[in-house]
Amino acid sequence: MRKKVIAGNWKMNMLPNEAINFINEFAPLVKDTNNEVILCVPYTDLFYALLHVQETNIKIGAQNMHWETTGAYTGEISAEMLKSINVDYVIIGHSERRQYFAETDETVNKKVKKALAVGLKPIVCVGETLQEKEEGKTANVITTQTKLALEGLSPENVKNTIIAYEPIWAIGTGKTATAQDANESIKTIRKEIEENYGKDVAECVIIQYGGSVKSTNAKELFTTSDIDGGLVGGASLKPEEFAKIVNFDKE
Ligand code: 13P
Repeated sequence: MRKKVIAGNWKMNMLPNEAINFINEFAPLVKDTNNEVILCVPYTDLFYALLHVQETNIKIGAQNMHWETTGAYTGEISAEMLKSINVDYVIIGHSERRQYFAETDETVNKKVKKALAVGLKPIVCVGETLQEKEEGKTANVITTQTKLALEGLSPENVKNTIIAYEPIWAIGTGKTATAQDANESIKTIRKEIEENYGKDVAECVIIQYGGSVKSTNAKELFTTSDIDGGLVGGASLKPEEFAKIVNFDKE
């Protein structure tokens, strides 16, 4: 059975002292979970976060990276740099990066390959806009994004990749896809992976849902057949609220 993987995406929030306070409050609340718990924090918090999650079950991720190892890329951070301080995960191709920072399916693919090559686990985001949804293009958009993001990867590498299905219209809007719709979209993504890499790989790949996940809807979403956890934005900024999401399967 696939593990549930619940990741917080702090986006551009939290100073180091806030990150430390968060972890000190959050860690005891999630210490008994069997779910994978990840905090994807800003670059400036990485080092502090890594220090403070030692001796806990919390893993740390970054929110972006460059595909080159070194060079004249002012302002960029490489996969090797993240790996060198023991970061485990990295979000790649978040819709905010595609929308505001001109990321394309091609750069997403380069980043995914590089992350895997250095031993980072990529969390690759795919998802349709409201217009695409209204035009009935959801399945087409998400299968194309998935295919292009994973192009050229070995089946083993695909198994080590997490996909986050994040409908853009549900991000930060308070509008959540229904559990049934999100599950159907995720089944569509899994089918695409099965067609290219086989059933064994498709059954192993973790596919999360993201977009206005809260403690009040986490259980309904995460107990469907194909949703393997979540990528959580706003609700991951509050320790108690995020802990409730991680512990959705308790009590
Ligand atoms: P919200 O949970 O704030 O809608 O953000 C979702 C998201 O973008 C996570 O990557």
